[in-house]
Amino acid sequence: MAGIPIAKPFLGEEEKRAVLEVMESGQFAQGARVAEFEKRFAQYVGRGHGIAVNSGTSALHVALLAHEIGRGQEVVVPALTFFACAATVLLCGGTPTFADIDRGLYTMDPASLKRAVTKKTKAVMPVHLYGQTAEMEAINEVAEANDLIVLEDACQSHGAEYHGEKSGNLGDTSCFSFYPTKNMTTGEGGMILTDDPKIAEQCRLLRDHGQRAKYDHVLIGYNYRMTEFAAAIGLVQLRKLDSFVRKRRENAARLTKGISQIEGLRPPVEGNWMLHSYYQYIVRVEDGFPLSRDSIVQRLSSEGIGCRPSYPGVMYRQKAFRKRPAERSKVAEETVPRLFEIPVHPLVSSSDIDTILSAMDRLRGPE
Ligand SMILES: Cc1ncc(COP(=O)(O)O)c(C=O)c1O
Repeated sequence: MAGIPIAKPFLGEEEKRAVLEVMESGQFAQGARVAEFEKRFAQYVGRGHGIAVNSGTSALHVALLAHEIGRGQEVVVPALTFFACAATVLLCGGTPTFADIDRGLYTMDPASLKRAVTKKTKAVMPVHLYGQTAEMEAINEVAEANDLIVLEDACQSHGAEYHGEKSGNLGDTSCFSFYPTKNMTTGEGGMILTDDPKIAEQCRLLRDHGQRAKYDHVLIGYNYRMTEFAAAIGLVQLRKLDSFVRKRRENAARLTKGISQIEGLRPPVEGNWMLHSYYQYIVRVEDGFPLSRDSIVQRLSSEGIGCRPSYPGVMYRQKAFRKRPAERSKVAEETVPRLFEIPVHPLVSSSDIDTILSAMDRLRGPE
């Protein structure tokens, strides 16, 4: 069955030509295209400095190190997010602690963040999950009151806005991913944005073996450099980003209109002052719906509709964290097993939306 994939990178002739130009240029590693991509991406978000790296995970790792997160320090991350958020804190020697999520928006609950802060807390990592920013006004208030660094994880929120400000411009430093499923891609890739020249310089050193100049190493860093191929694709994708987000929002509006009519299924909510960029379209199964989340995923998948659990469970239950003290985020524990994603990307056509809605409409009936 051909089906409707849950995600599909949207690349065209322009990206092909850009990659060929790099091949012909002979300059493959970090060079002029990377510098241009950093400049343009930082401008798009409204930040002073961009530092391109080879993944969103590298971006988080480097940004945490640049802000001197290390042993004995805690960083608060949301209980519902991708693994890399907590893993990179641990890679720096720090300790991730977990804040619960908001029941309606699924992003970090500022009240829970407040409760999670201890004397050891040095930073907070709000995650703009599924394409919608966290409630940054309240989060920044808690951060300010407790002298915390705010490191935005904007890996899922290219083009999203909060009070008219772009995601990635809402804290001290922000990190993006350009993984193939994201709102824009470079194959693999990432970016750190900041207005602080010292943090920017530290990130530049950390991504390239601490090199200030060729073979002049002033600190121990990594090879997290972005390739020219990735930057060439990124420059084209950035020009298309706003149109991609528009199409995602159009698709989301139609899905929401249809799903609102189905008793027991709840569409995502766009928060006050937020512009959702719909990296993912998340549906919640309410009490009383005749099928469980996993049965719904199975039914829709069998009809060729790309569909999967959002995340299988709260993040701190992952085996890799099993030696960590038990945490409990009540709302996240209760909510996460109810969430699933359906296709919303720009290659989902109007007739695909009809197909998805018709399949969802039939879920209440016999198989
Ligand atoms: C919220 C979040 N943080 C971090 C990452 C890590 O990005 P990458 O896969 O580019 O390493 C991702 C990527 O999937 C993500 O969704």
